[in-house]
Amino acid sequence: MLNYRKNINAMPSYDGIEKNYRIKVNANESTLNLPPLVEERVLNRLYHVAFNRYPNEEYYSLVEQIARNFSVKEEQILLGNGSSEIIEKVFHTFGGDGHKVVFPVPSFSMYKIYAKAADSQAVPFDLDKNFDIDVDKFIKTVQDSRADLAVICNPNNPTGNALTVDDVEKIAASINCAFLLDEAYVEFYGHSAFKLVAKYPNLIVARTFSKAYGMAGARVGYMIANADVTRMVGKTFMPYHMNTLSLVAADIVYQMRDEFTPRIQITVAERKRISQLLKMIPALEVFPSHTNFILIRHEKAERLKNYLESVDIGVRYFSPSAQGLKNCLRLSMGTREENDEVFKVISDWLNTD
Ligand SMILES: Cc1ncc(COP(=O)(O)O)c(C=O)c1O
Repeated sequence: MLNYRKNINAMPSYDGIEKNYRIKVNANESTLNLPPLVEERVLNRLYHVAFNRYPNEEYYSLVEQIARNFSVKEEQILLGNGSSEIIEKVFHTFGGDGHKVVFPVPSFSMYKIYAKAADSQAVPFDLDKNFDIDVDKFIKTVQDSRADLAVICNPNNPTGNALTVDDVEKIAASINCAFLLDEAYVEFYGHSAFKLVAKYPNLIVARTFSKAYGMAGARVGYMIANADVTRMVGKTFMPYHMNTLSLVAADIVYQMRDEFTPRIQITVAERKRISQLLKMIPALEVFPSHTNFILIRHEKAERLKNYLESVDIGVRYFSPSAQGLKNCLRLSMGTREENDEVFKVISDWLNTD
């Protein structure tokens, strides 16, 4: 008999295999590949990759650029294979036997899995019926449970709503433990709390190239924190964990990030436009969003998801066991044409079914 590590057995799997739908709005990705000018620069750079060398210079070049942009020291930045790796390592650093992690529910479903993977105790904090966080109650939960790590996703996935930077500061100032702020969608919101890292040594901000910068396939993310924290979290990575191909691509994308501003603005405008259209469908609940996706609720959500899939449109449906997300679907923003089609299929089906 194989003796698996305790907790691995009890750990839910992340169902990552997805169909390549004609219209794929199920994973909060960017529907567009890199802007042509950026892609050309990336491809040219790939001609000069030193495949024979471990990625040293390439890692520090990106760290240096990010540090300069945020006016922090290079020691305050760590890179990861997507922000997923950053989050997993933060859980690993502050979790462990007897350690507790507080995170809101519903939020990014991986927090529960990382808590288990780190052999720590998850302390779920329920959002209210509008998916808002009662900040005072959250602080009290962190304090009363004597948590070692508190996590907030801002703006929140999959609900789309956001805390103000003032509320984030209130939490950072009031809790004694590590505080991970997952800002995977912050470019669509426009209000990052990264500046608070200078004031609150417990704050760790995680960011990603996967969403606004259309690089989900390259797997690059980073964290900004106090240098003592990055030194400790840094110990948990394997040597040379990032690959040179992704690092040089991200380096160029970051240099050229202004090229992404128009498409971020278009995504935000599309989210507002489609939210307004969806709100006109009777009995469809549309939740406010500050991200590149919209959460909707309808009593026929599961059948609607099946119908959308039958016409080759992939959306995210949440199983009835996903707390607080009964009858919910999440739609990421596609191109204007894709969004129009998704909207038309939804409204026609709901109006005729
Ligand atoms: C809230 C949140 N955090 C982190 C991630 C991980 O993204 P990545 O590992 O691609 O940076 C995701 C991905 O969907 C997410 O929604």
